[in-house]
Amino acid sequence: MSRNCRIAVFASGNGSNFQALLDASREGRLGGGEIVLLVCDKSQAFVVERARKAEVETYLFQPKDYARREDYEAEIAGRLAELEVDLVVLAGYMRLLTPVLVGPYAGRMLNIHPSLLPSFPGKDAIGQAWNYGVKVTGVTVHFVDEGMDTGTIVAQESIEVLPGEDVDSLTDRIHQVEQSLYPRIVRQFAEGKLKVNGRRVELG
Ligand code: GRF
Repeated sequence: MSRNCRIAVFASGNGSNFQALLDASREGRLGGGEIVLLVCDKSQAFVVERARKAEVETYLFQPKDYARREDYEAEIAGRLAELEVDLVVLAGYMRLLTPVLVGPYAGRMLNIHPSLLPSFPGKDAIGQAWNYGVKVTGVTVHFVDEGMDTGTIVAQESIEVLPGEDVDSLTDRIHQVEQSLYPRIVRQFAEGKLKVNGRRVELG
């Protein structure tokens, strides 16, 4: 991609992945990727504070102000178009998306999930994996479709559950993997190195 890849991050919570992407962008580790917008559905979320400090424009909305998901998504899609966003990056955005957003950004919308999909989709994936007693778990980056964590897998990184560790330690280690993996994959997208062939994605 010759011009910068303009990125919107959607998040609902702490924003550690947003921060990792922002840091990578500012340190030149995002292949020309530039975060131009944060979209957030929770005004009290810490990610909003991170964006304010970093002077990243924030689009805040309250889902309860709208009759249907499609209505707020249409407004968001309008802002994304105005800002000429190339890539949408979901980073702890706790809402399913409709075709209003998934359609225009098919193949240009990524999500990160804290398990090795298709195991443990949905909420509290780390807790689900822990309670199941898995010995190996990890992180998945995938393209977004309308399902719950069902889109085409782009990258996965595994870690072993260590003997004697507790769920908090596992959670910390999963988050470390996320914060290193997501910027690397976003960089590959920004550099045009993700080659998609049906359900298979080759990294450059
Ligand atoms: C991460 O574990 C991510 O995989 C999941 O939501 C969490 C968001 O964490 N989708 P943060 O808000 O980026 O700190």
